[in-house]
Amino acid sequence: MTRPHIEFIHAQDLDWQAAVLHGPLADVECKVLSMDEETGACSVILRYPEGWVQNGPLHLDGAHEFLVLDGAVEISGQSYPFDSYAYLPAGYAHENWTTKTGAVVLTFFSARPDITPGPGNMTEAAVPYLYLHEMKWSSADVDPDLDHLRIAHKILREDEDSGAKTMILDCGAQSHPQNWEDGALAHPCVEEMFLLSGDIITERGAMHAGAYFWRPPNIWHGPFGSRNGNLCVIRFLHGHHVNNWSEEKFPFSLTPGHKPDLPDSLKEAADKPFSAPTPY
Ligand SMILES: [Fe+2]
Repeated sequence: MTRPHIEFIHAQDLDWQAAVLHGPLADVECKVLSMDEETGACSVILRYPEGWVQNGPLHLDGAHEFLVLDGAVEISGQSYPFDSYAYLPAGYAHENWTTKTGAVVLTFFSARPDITPGPGNMTEAAVPYLYLHEMKWSSADVDPDLDHLRIAHKILREDEDSGAKTMILDCGAQSHPQNWEDGALAHPCVEEMFLLSGDIITERGAMHAGAYFWRPPNIWHGPFGSRNGNLCVIRFLHGHHVNNWSEEKFPFSLTPGHKPDLPDSLKEAADKPFSAPTPY
């Protein structure tokens, strides 16, 4: 169960592809952010065409976790407009799965998303629906060593046994470590991120809205900061999230070079910095 270290790419640099997924999902174009070739688990942006319909009941063998970026989808009578989220575990009965308008949906499948008719066996709790605008921001339990980022979060899902956690993070503008230097960070779990807006500046380069990384456990990262603040989706997987800091301090720069860590298959797509739109 592995995916390569991808840190980082911008979704805008990837092509929409058809027939990446199987069965009825082959009709849904997607951008593959990362994929475990062995299990088929993948993080993708799905672009559902207008009027796409899958009549249920049906289920997937893996979890179906998603955040709607644009448009709306409907599953089992629940409408999911943009900025809504769900975690539908393996076996969750999708009574119907449709979109009238079409939709763009950031989607995480924990196994190859083959569709099986009928309901399945569910062994995890579902998060059937969250509308992000109705959730309160919190700064509880944020590592005080990250105070300079002025982090607020919304926890979308947390499994205390496995450590899996999904959250929305909001970080402040014009933020940088004190004295422009800081330790590096590592976690004993996978960290995955999709940047919804703003920028994150790290030692590997500047990420802008649309940036994505999949960082395997125990990989050093940071220091970080931001010019314009940022809003991102973070997932911690395959272990519990712990912040381990290096003793050594590293300089922080607002103008780092572009030094992503990428598998060969993505090097061409992300070989140069992304040109973010400017307000002028
Ligand atoms: Fe991290």
